[in-house]
Amino acid sequence: MAIETRPLHPHIGAEMIGIDARRPLTPAEVAAVEAGMDRHAVLVLPRQDIDDEQQLAFSRNFGPLEEGANSTVRANELRLAPAFADVSNLDKDGARLARDNKRRMASLGNRLWHSDASFRAVPARYSLLSGRIVTTDAGNTEFADMRAAYDALDAGTKAEVEGLICEHSLIYSRQQLGFTEFLPDERVSMRPVLQRLVRTHPVTGAKSLYLSAHIGAVVGWPRPEAMAFVRDLMEHATQAQFVYVHRWTKHDLVIWDNRQTMHRVRRFDDLNIVRDMRRTTTRSDGPTVAQQAA
Ligand code: OGA
Ligand code: MN
Repeated sequence: MAIETRPLHPHIGAEMIGIDARRPLTPAEVAAVEAGMDRHAVLVLPRQDIDDEQQLAFSRNFGPLEEGANSTVRANELRLAPAFADVSNLDKDGARLARDNKRRMASLGNRLWHSDASFRAVPARYSLLSGRIVTTDAGNTEFADMRAAYDALDAGTKAEVEGLICEHSLIYSRQQLGFTEFLPDERVSMRPVLQRLVRTHPVTGAKSLYLSAHIGAVVGWPRPEAMAFVRDLMEHATQAQFVYVHRWTKHDLVIWDNRQTMHRVRRFDDLNIVRDMRRTTTRSDGPTVAQQAA
């Protein structure tokens, strides 16, 4: 089938038709998806009625899978295989999470603008989110183009951000929402990692701002000054002209490049409505800061 791509926004996001995620891809199809991702940073593949095995197999075309995204959930409470990030509001028995459920508290962090796994030394490349049961008039997912945001900075700010290194941790993003219950071993596994604030895309050479709710410090800066600056950059980067709003249709498979986008989910009535979204994630080539290689 011929592959067709239709942009959904002036900067970011396109719909791609002609790929069947249930079947093995040819090298040409993999290359077409990657080229689409390099260009549009977000691809929407509609009508992909896939099961978990098919999602895993499809995702592996785009790099090694990141495992353990649910590391704060005990293994016997997982609803999905460990290679999935369960971003549904369901427990392992299919019941909606209670208001004070710990996993629900943690997943509220997805309402803050972020880039997946920016708190890992080797952060994420692609995230692939399959809409199994979707919400229609709320629970949209929004994507911000961090290339366009970088390009729109004035020259002085570009020079200022160029060499900066930020600390990222899940603790920082959760603290923003007042979530402070961390077990001692979680504090160890969530130790901050360093990431460059300006990234260069390995294929296109495009520069982008690497921002995320997981940022809690800028190396060498007083913390309040750092956080005020990061807030300014966040506000700049998430202006409407840089944002594609995705309204879900059942069986959409949405792929985003975490190296050049941020995203967030919008509020919905998660105590009463079921939203079953399953994410697989692939790893990027390496750390964004050379020293972390060891
Ligand atoms: C994610 C995420 C957004 C959503 O899967 O990484 O942030 O719409 N989810 O559920
Ligand atoms: Mn996310």
